[in-house]
Amino acid sequence: MKKILLVTGPAGDAQGWGDIKVTKSIQKAINDSGKSARIAFVNNMDEFLSAIEKNSFDIAWSALYHISGKADAVGMGETHEKWVADIFDEKGIPCIGPDSKTMKQLINKTCTHRILKDKGVLVPYHYQLGTADNLPDLVYPAFVKPSFESRSVGISDDSVVHSKEDLKKRIAFIESNFDQPALVEEYLPGSEYTVLMLGNGKHQVFLPGKVMVDPSLFGKYPILRSDLRGVGATKIKRVSTKEEDLIELCRQAMEALNCLDHVRTDMRMDANGKLKIIEVNGIPGLKPGKSWSPQIFSMYYPAPKGPMKAYQNLINHIVSSALARYNL
Ligand SMILES: Nc1ncnc2c1ncn2[C@@H]1O[C@H](COP(=O)(O)OP(=O)(O)OP(=O)(O)O)[C@@H](O)[C@H]1O
Ligand SMILES: [Mg+2]
Repeated sequence: MKKILLVTGPAGDAQGWGDIKVTKSIQKAINDSGKSARIAFVNNMDEFLSAIEKNSFDIAWSALYHISGKADAVGMGETHEKWVADIFDEKGIPCIGPDSKTMKQLINKTCTHRILKDKGVLVPYHYQLGTADNLPDLVYPAFVKPSFESRSVGISDDSVVHSKEDLKKRIAFIESNFDQPALVEEYLPGSEYTVLMLGNGKHQVFLPGKVMVDPSLFGKYPILRSDLRGVGATKIKRVSTKEEDLIELCRQAMEALNCLDHVRTDMRMDANGKLKIIEVNGIPGLKPGKSWSPQIFSMYYPAPKGPMKAYQNLINHIVSSALARYNL
């Protein structure tokens, strides 16, 4: 029986697929599909190293980019410390998800944008700016967000800025609240989409969805503010148009960034109706019924036995395609 080690810790919700309850749902889904999963909840690097030493397993799957005690922020971790995927790569441990190089590129949204732009994949204009930087001349409105966060942390209607003065204030807000530079990019006023990529090679699938929010919940702008996340305010719907474009843009990004197993790409339309990528998630949320990956998967592959069976099938798809990649 194949053994999977699920690695998580205090930052599992901020960085990865969700809190310990979500990790237990993943464990149950794996165990129910004839494999065996064990959870390693690690508070620091020593605990992580000892967990991968002590446990016997065929493949590891981490909710964490880097080991951190921070339950509400992602950040870039301690500068000297290795990331989880660095250790997997160094020790030759098979793992689910992209390798360490890609994980680092994905957590830094400016870096993701640069790579995609270099390879001709459509992204908004973008600048990484701190309070010490000279401000470039921009086309307004612009959108200002933290460079390395998720779950819409730091995003409100004030993220949309219309002047150099507002821009300066918002960069200072990001720097003082999140201790990181701001990512300043073109404001994309159109519809929002997310495309789930599962599996690799000939087993790879792309499942696009449109992000729906009751318009009465929006304030000045139709954006996913932090208070709209994690409260059941977003529902994913099947797309009626642009399906091919969404799949093609996601495919280009997955190739450019060497994404594997389970990665989700968020996109929006610009003022001219052109799709652009806003970010690529290397460890997408997996909260049953709530996170976008389970919502999309059960929309395309509903299970007659109910949503938890569809969830089990999603987890099994991710795990099996990773095992196949290692010929396990
Ligand atoms: N350039 C933009 N123009 C308009 N809205 C944007 C832009 N960038 C981000 N947003 C809005 O802010 C939300 C959060 O942004 P983004 O997806 O980049 O960050 P996130 O917090 O990391 O998301 P996730 O939780 O998916 O990891 C988006 O869902 C979108 O509604
Ligand atoms: Mg997002």
